[in-house]
Amino acid sequence: MELKTLKDVDLTKKRVILRVAYDITLKEKNGTMEIPDDTRIRATLPTIQHLLEKRCAIVLITWLKRPGGKVVEKMRLDPVAKKLSELINKPVKKVNDCVGPEVQHALTQLKSGELLMLENTRFHPEEEADDPVFAEELAKAGECIVFDAFAHAHRKHASTTGILKILPACAGFLMEKEMTTLDRILQQPERPFVALLGGVKISDKVGVLKALVEICDAILIGGALANTFLKAQGKDIGASLAESEMIDKKKLDPLKAAQEILQRAETKETTLVGLQNRSALQLPVDFIAAQAREEGAKTQQVSLEGTIKGVKNRLPSLDAWMFLDIGPKTRFAYQNILSQAKTILWNGPVGAFETKGFEQGTKRLAQYIASQTQHATTVTGGGDTEAAITAFHLNGKFTHNSTGGGAMLKFLSGKELPVLHYLVR
Ligand code: 3PG
Repeated sequence: MELKTLKDVDLTKKRVILRVAYDITLKEKNGTMEIPDDTRIRATLPTIQHLLEKRCAIVLITWLKRPGGKVVEKMRLDPVAKKLSELINKPVKKVNDCVGPEVQHALTQLKSGELLMLENTRFHPEEEADDPVFAEELAKAGECIVFDAFAHAHRKHASTTGILKILPACAGFLMEKEMTTLDRILQQPERPFVALLGGVKISDKVGVLKALVEICDAILIGGALANTFLKAQGKDIGASLAESEMIDKKKLDPLKAAQEILQRAETKETTLVGLQNRSALQLPVDFIAAQAREEGAKTQQVSLEGTIKGVKNRLPSLDAWMFLDIGPKTRFAYQNILSQAKTILWNGPVGAFETKGFEQGTKRLAQYIASQTQHATTVTGGGDTEAAITAFHLNGKFTHNSTGGGAMLKFLSGKELPVLHYLVR
């Protein structure tokens, strides 16, 4: 597949919609929303620089988080526009909607070499519904689209596929870099290929997990995702977060899905040593548990295998206890498997790393994967993973940090990203 890129088009002096994925976790500090990690903004700077050199008027479009089709004050894009302005040392005008009279007025004022950021597109329910009339409204913002939102490339929204159907488009530099790097890994991963997957919901990852079980030599699971698998195996996970309710909208039974993936993993041939039950899908065997997810909370190390030397037996009942990080035995087992890999894919923290006391699993595994970059191709992706990399000062220590979470996993599991259809030559 050959992408149409910025080198294939002349955008001189055009009014360009720059579709970015500034879906950033904002943090409230003294009543204002701040940006703890600006990786996603920085990743688009080469494209912005190029468009400025071509004297384009740039209209930035993105969504942020999941406001559910209504205005959520804490999900406005003002702090994002401010951060971009600081990074490029240039004003970035911001409007309070993404369609309508305020936007139309701002567009009439926008000159060549200036930037305008529209408001969070997910404040409108029509965005996620991929409503064609709403897409027409959004598309009025430019003469063409430069698509640099790799992290949003797996969604059929009005601001992704919707506008791409209407206006001429090409891929930005970030999109091009992501596709070239990930395509190389997908076509010919050097083996063994090991994935470390964390995060929360299995329902978001069933398709990807099924595909990765076939592609990878082993998948190591952490985070709340592990709890759903353990629950499916009938293990006591106390009050830990897990998905067990039937998800009507997706017609998915999370526990049944977990069982199917486990069964397939057990029948897979693998040459790796140190795998529990010789399964291609590995689950944690010990945890750091607490009754509250807060700094200073009393913790205990819980083993799912009985006693670990030097560690207290698990409590008779885990009733109010939650698994908030993987334990050291799991960490060493995972490091042993990762040490054999020639390709490593990491998506999702393995614990509540933002809270002191539950960061060690994610931190140590992140450091270990970074140290493997000399011998293996190391690829990371996803917003929370990016935040962990920044928190542990590991930026630049991996072969490739993808800005996409869901998009990266979908692509690497061999599924088509819907936006690509509109970005090929
Ligand atoms: C990402 O960060 O991977 C995407 O912005 C997430 O988009 P979603 O809310 O549709 O999962």
